Amino acid sequence: MRILVTGANGQLGRDLLDALAGRVPLGGRSTNLMAPEGPQHGLVHEVLATDIGEMPVDDRECVQHTFRAFAPELVLHVGAMTAVDLCETNVDQAYAVNAVGTRNVAEAAVAVGSHVLYVSTDYVFDGNSPRPYNEWDQPNPVSVYGESKLAGEMECPPGSTIVRTSWVCGAHGANMVKTILRLAKSEDDFRFVDDQHGSPTFTADLAGALVALGTGKRPGTFHVTNAGATSWWGFVREILTALGDDPDRVHAIGTAELDPPLVARRPANSVLDNMALRLSGLPQLPAWQDGLTRLVAVLQAQEAAE
Ligand SMILES: NC(=O)c1ccc[n+]([C@@H]2O[C@H](COP(=O)([O-])OP(=O)(O)OC[C@H]3O[C@@H](n4cnc5c(N)ncnc54)[C@H](OP(=O)(O)O)[C@@H]3O)[C@@H](O)[C@H]2O)c1
Repeated sequence: MRILVTGANGQLGRDLLDALAGRVPLGGRSTNLMAPEGPQHGLVHEVLATDIGEMPVDDRECVQHTFRAFAPELVLHVGAMTAVDLCETNVDQAYAVNAVGTRNVAEAAVAVGSHVLYVSTDYVFDGNSPRPYNEWDQPNPVSVYGESKLAGEMECPPGSTIVRTSWVCGAHGANMVKTILRLAKSEDDFRFVDDQHGSPTFTADLAGALVALGTGKRPGTFHVTNAGATSWWGFVREILTALGDDPDRVHAIGTAELDPPLVARRPANSVLDNMALRLSGLPQLPAWQDGLTRLVAVLQAQEAAE
């Protein structure tokens, strides 16, 4: 299958390239890649890896030219403006990339008959639900980032795959696990909020699910997160434990106590029920603690090698 990846240099994009069975240089094509495992075993993919340098999704002409030249059967549209607080003060840029950028990808994909898989977010929800959100719950974002990503969902052509995920962590890029790995080296204790709940999701697991849903051209919205949920405080406790450190070094506070407060509002509950996967009989991702253990091992091995 000919697959175009956007955002291929981000933390999810880089593990996605690995899941497509081999590292693909940015802007480069890689042929005769064998998917390592799962239902795609034996599929041969030709992958075009793009990021902001090769194909800025907000540049309609460039997107159209790239799609015409490569003629992908599938686009894994991962590229986005993901800095949640920056989106609040750069509203036009957030919409240009996340909404108009997705419109451009959708238009070009339709023109060459390409299936679209769009990666979206738990932040499309307001967080007021007393239970995890399923795919049929009404979105109501409370941040510009969430609004612009929801706008991107609305731009996807009929029959697209929309995957909402949450609290993404991987070996590449910035995330909570890497932050705590750094903070743990200091002498200080630290404070994290205990009133925002979500499901930490690990790119090594998520990437495989994206490849399966995308190559299967599954239509509809799917919530795809690692199983289980916690607060940021609970997550940090578990990270410290996985590092062999003292979990009591992190103290629980409320969002209202953050000083200075975060620019963007976050949903208090953004736990996603992976209902569509479950009811379709598709594989669920493992528990988030399991993904964390594997990521910590990777990061510690990287440190040891440096
Ligand atoms: N991180 C999370 O916790 C989380 C949670 C839920 C959903 N998601 C979604 O998951 C996807 C991947 O997130 P991630 O954590 O891998 O984020 P990431 O590391 O920021 O990756 C996004 C990539 O998109 C690139 N990009 C930015 N503007 C672009 C443009 N105009 N054209 C093409 N590419 C552009 C970024 O480049 P620069 O780095 O140069 O800007 C980056 O390489 C995103 O769609 C995000 O909305 C993330």
